[in-house]
Amino acid sequence: MKQVTFHQLKVFEVTARRGSFTRAAEELFLTQPTVSIQMKQLTKAVGLPLFEQVGKRLYLTEAGRALLSTCQDIFERLDQFEMTVSDLQGLQQGQLRLSVVTTAKYVIPRLLGPFCQQYPGIDVALIVTNHENILERLKENLDDLYIPSQVPEMMDVFSQPFLENPLVVIASRHHPLAGTGDIPLERLNNESFIMREPGSGTRQAVEQLFDAHNISIRVRLELGSNEAIKQAVAGGLGISVLSRHCMALEGQTGQIAILNVEGFPIPRHWHIVHPKGKHLSVVAQTFFKYLQTEGKRVLQETALL
Ligand code: PGA
Repeated sequence: MKQVTFHQLKVFEVTARRGSFTRAAEELFLTQPTVSIQMKQLTKAVGLPLFEQVGKRLYLTEAGRALLSTCQDIFERLDQFEMTVSDLQGLQQGQLRLSVVTTAKYVIPRLLGPFCQQYPGIDVALIVTNHENILERLKENLDDLYIPSQVPEMMDVFSQPFLENPLVVIASRHHPLAGTGDIPLERLNNESFIMREPGSGTRQAVEQLFDAHNISIRVRLELGSNEAIKQAVAGGLGISVLSRHCMALEGQTGQIAILNVEGFPIPRHWHIVHPKGKHLSVVAQTFFKYLQTEGKRVLQETALL
């Protein structure tokens, strides 16, 4: 075990969590053969197989499970040590790990700018992903702070509403409903709909509203990206529902119209969340406060609100 490197343990932890060399390589920005070689070397050093492959997925062997829990202990102790060091250094140096839902990518990077200017020694790792993946990351305690649009109900978390994130119905500006007022919700029955992927919080909110009103929509296309949905809508493929924040720059091109549909906008808020009892680093505490006190003002100044 003396030849084992910290990097190999990190690669192992990600591979075990993601269940595949390819997905681990994606998360770590490495190539798949690099991950596979690292795991071969680690297996050799341990002297027992760490994974077994069933179908496309890798499963941990008993030795693998024991190594994973050892790695988690090591990483947690190192995190605590890092936190102690950055607490000692105050805000001069440190890391901030954030996971935000896709809709928040329109505002959080904007807010990080002034924050990082104020604290130039802080490095930021920002993950942008859908609601379900945020919950997974929260469960695994991978980041300092999380920004979803719904507070997870099944987990013990501390949460604070941050900003409004209303969902609106969008269509091409040439769509017959564009510019008309008071569109009944049932009118959407006949429309081709472009829907986000399963696991998306936007999709969940839309399905809840339609289910509550017994509306069954015709999903013509499923897309995992708000930007791709905007292009498909502008191209006349159908209508969709997105956060109003996704439309921030659309006013300039004028290709997409927001429809005035009954029941919309669906009111939602982004929340700042972390597991209850988590010891936040000074950096994370400062960013939390910054979002609450300065967030709205900075976005208003940059005309994003
Ligand atoms: P989504 O997140 O990417 O999961 O749809 C958006 C949201 O919940 O605001």
